[in-house]
Amino acid sequence: MKVLDTGRLTIRHLEHNDATFILRLLNEPSFIEFIGDKGVRNGADACRYLDQGPMASYQEHGFGLYRVSLKFGGDVVGICGILKREELPHPDLGFAFLPKYWSQGYAFESAQALMEYEVNKHQLDEVLAITTPHNESSGRLLERLGFVDEGNTQLKPDSDEVKLFRVKAEGIAAAR
Ligand SMILES: CC(C)(COP(=O)(O)OP(=O)(O)OC[C@H]1O[C@@H](n2cnc3c(N)ncnc32)[C@H](O)[C@@H]1OP(=O)(O)O)[C@@H](O)C(=O)NCCC(=O)NCCS
Repeated sequence: MKVLDTGRLTIRHLEHNDATFILRLLNEPSFIEFIGDKGVRNGADACRYLDQGPMASYQEHGFGLYRVSLKFGGDVVGICGILKREELPHPDLGFAFLPKYWSQGYAFESAQALMEYEVNKHQLDEVLAITTPHNESSGRLLERLGFVDEGNTQLKPDSDEVKLFRVKAEGIAAAR
């Protein structure tokens, strides 16, 4: 199901058809370093991840991580969307792109359009984001999107520190 189009991108729900792409993306060294190892090693694992992650989130919350592809040529380049974690009081933005498609503004273009869409659709007051403390390219991207760095925090008492970012709904519109 299509969610929206931007100037260069098409954003759609992830489906089992995306398992090959997900298998590749989730095993990129950058994904494992900055997001984590989801233990997805084959197509069946990827389908299970899709069922229990993005597709369960669409059912439960009406939003989730989506598939981002190029309008011109159709290459699938990454995933982007908001998630709702038990540990955080507001939805948080997530994104990951194949390295081949970095530094072309695709993450910014998809995240900006999606945040505006989800904030309006779900009447959100604010959106959060978390990164590992040394994920500088994500931090730069979040600040360009209007997020403010709120410093380090822990999602659980025994978990590693993460950097917390926050943007108010009015800040999303102002960052356009
Ligand atoms: C985080 C991640 C998505 C950022 O990707 P990215 O390619 O830097 O982001 P963008 O596509 O928006 O590109 C931004 C860069 O492209 C440049 N750019 C080129 N053309 C552009 C355009 N048309 N519009 C905007 N920026 C453009 C920007 O100046 C910027 O450069 P900079 O990083 O030197 O400041 C990517 O590094 C990634 O997938 N990392 C692994 C997963 C991850 O860390 N996820 C986040 C977990 S919190």
